[in-house]
Amino acid sequence: MTEPQPGIDTTTPQSPRVWNYWLGGKDNYEVDRQVGDEVIAMTPQLPKLARESRRFLIRAVEYLAGEVGIRQFLDIGTGLPTADNTHQVAQRVAPESKIVYVDNDPVVLAHARALLVGTPQGVTRYLDEDLYAPERILRDAGKTLDLNQPVALMLMGILGHVADWDQAKAIVRELVSGLPSGSYLTTCDSTNVHDTEAMDRAASIYNAAASPRIHLRRPWHFTELVTELGLEAVAPGAVPVTQWGVAEDQLVPRPEPIDEYGVVARKP
Ligand SMILES: C[S@@+](CC[C@H](N)C(=O)[O-])C[C@H]1O[C@@H](n2cnc3c(N)ncnc32)[C@H](O)[C@@H]1O
Repeated sequence: MTEPQPGIDTTTPQSPRVWNYWLGGKDNYEVDRQVGDEVIAMTPQLPKLARESRRFLIRAVEYLAGEVGIRQFLDIGTGLPTADNTHQVAQRVAPESKIVYVDNDPVVLAHARALLVGTPQGVTRYLDEDLYAPERILRDAGKTLDLNQPVALMLMGILGHVADWDQAKAIVRELVSGLPSGSYLTTCDSTNVHDTEAMDRAASIYNAAASPRIHLRRPWHFTELVTELGLEAVAPGAVPVTQWGVAEDQLVPRPEPIDEYGVVARKP
C-alpha cells in the first residue's frame, strides 16, 4: 500500500495491517512491516501462526455452513480482506449465506467497501463499529440478519485486544445473549503456552509500537469463556488451531505446537 489515504495513521503500526503483513498481504505500510519484522525476529512462528489461524477460520466456517447448516455470520474484527474471508468460505458452501462484518479501523473500512463483495444470492454487509458497543452491533446487525435464527458469531484475533479479561467475557456474553439457541461462537487468539518467553517478548515489542495492544491468552481463557457462558464446545474443544477440524489420522505426524488457540462452541 503506497498512497496513504486522508485520516489514516501511517506513523503507528495498526493491528489489521501488521496481521495482513504476516498473512503475506500487501495492505500495510513501512511502520507495520518494521514492527512485523521485529516480532518475527523474536518469534519466527508468527507468519505461520497467522496463516494457520486463517486455515482454522476456513475449517470452522466450512463446518458451520456445511455440517451445521448455519446461514448467518457475524464476524467482528474483520481485518483487511485477504483470501478466504468468512463470506467467501460461507458462500462457497451456501451462496445464500448472509454475513455482517464489523471493524473500527479506518483502513479496514476503506478496503471493506471495495472488496467485500459477495454472491448475488447472499448478503455481505460491513458495519464501522466498536467491539465495546455490543448492543449497537446487535441492533445494526439485526437490520441484515434475522436474530431469531441461528448466527455464527466469529471473534477471530480480536478478544486478545481487550486488556481486561472480565470485560472481554462480558462483551461476548452480551453478544451471545442476543442470539438464539443453535447459534455458535468461534474464537481464536494468540497464546504464550508453547514458546512462552519468545511470545512474551514479541508481545512487548508489538505493544511498545502498535495499536491496539495485544494480550496473550492461555488455554483456560477459552475453556472459561465457554463454561461461563453456558456453551457446549464442539470437539476437540479449545486446542491449538492446527488441531481443530482435522481428522485424527491426518494429525500424524502431529503438527508443531503453535501459540494460537481456538474453539468453536454451540449455544444450547
Ligand atoms: C489481528 S486482526 C484479525 C483479523 C481477522 N479477524 C483474522 O482473523 O484474520 C484484529 C482485527 O480486530 C479489529 N479490532 C481491534 N479492536 C477492535 C474494536 N475495539 N472494535 C472493532 N474492531 C476491532 C482490528 O481493526 C483488526 O481488523
